[in-house]
Amino acid sequence: MIKQAIIPLAGLGTRLLPITSVIPKELLPINGKPAIEYILQECIEAGIQKVIFIISDKKRNIKNYFYKDSFYKKIIKKKKKDKRIKFEYKKIKKYKKMIKFVYQNKPLGTGDAVLKCKNFIKSSHFLMLLPDDLIIYKNCSLEMIKLHKKYKSSIIASKKVNKKEVSRWGIFKIKKFITKNSFLIEDVIEKPKISKAPSRHAIIGRYILPKKIFTLLEKQRKGQGGEIHITDAIKKLIKKNETFFGHNFLGRYLDCGTMTGYINSSKEISKI
Ligand code: G1P
Repeated sequence: MIKQAIIPLAGLGTRLLPITSVIPKELLPINGKPAIEYILQECIEAGIQKVIFIISDKKRNIKNYFYKDSFYKKIIKKKKKDKRIKFEYKKIKKYKKMIKFVYQNKPLGTGDAVLKCKNFIKSSHFLMLLPDDLIIYKNCSLEMIKLHKKYKSSIIASKKVNKKEVSRWGIFKIKKFITKNSFLIEDVIEKPKISKAPSRHAIIGRYILPKKIFTLLEKQRKGQGGEIHITDAIKKLIKKNETFFGHNFLGRYLDCGTMTGYINSSKEISKI
């Protein structure tokens, strides 16, 4: 049963500068609500009970957001009739209970971030969500957990992208399609050049990973762009015959990691 999720949040957010020099991108409101709350909501609806946030000292405000008890208590005392404040506080308290914070103070990449959670993962598999990737209309994590129950293996979310965009993503080499929307993965390549991309099927930020990935991450060298990539550890696991499925999710993808994408996300979510 997958009950734990990890969320890497220590990234610098350079694609959203200058605002991210003072506010973590995950706290920026999308249609009035911090981006991270959409991700937490997805986790809760997928049956996740514990979430590990990987933050950095520079992004302590993410922790502060969930630790404002005395602030809320004071305001609630003053504004006893304001139901909205009570509602927000209750929500924040619920989130706080399920979050554990770990630190990655050097931005060495997603693989390094995942490794920080090594001692806290209890079951054979866990869920990882990248907060830049919002998926609306369908709960992608829930869909993937169902698939995991069926196949008992690792799963990665996928979406077909334009050929000229492949170098922005991790890209799958597909072994074969098992159903209309799920396929066996033969290989993964982090941000390949157009000429080297084995397909147009990109990795999207939802992963069900096996605990054994930690052993590989401990030895993982820096890769593309000088970072330690989770994609490279996954590649090794596949070579060692670990089964990974790709899952073309059904919801709509929103990219919150760039300014254009962020603005568009607000527009799209306001239509729901
Ligand atoms: C990360 C992964 C990449 C994946 C992408 C999905 O890249 O390294 O494989 O396709 O997330 O959003 P990043 O967005 O951190 O550059």
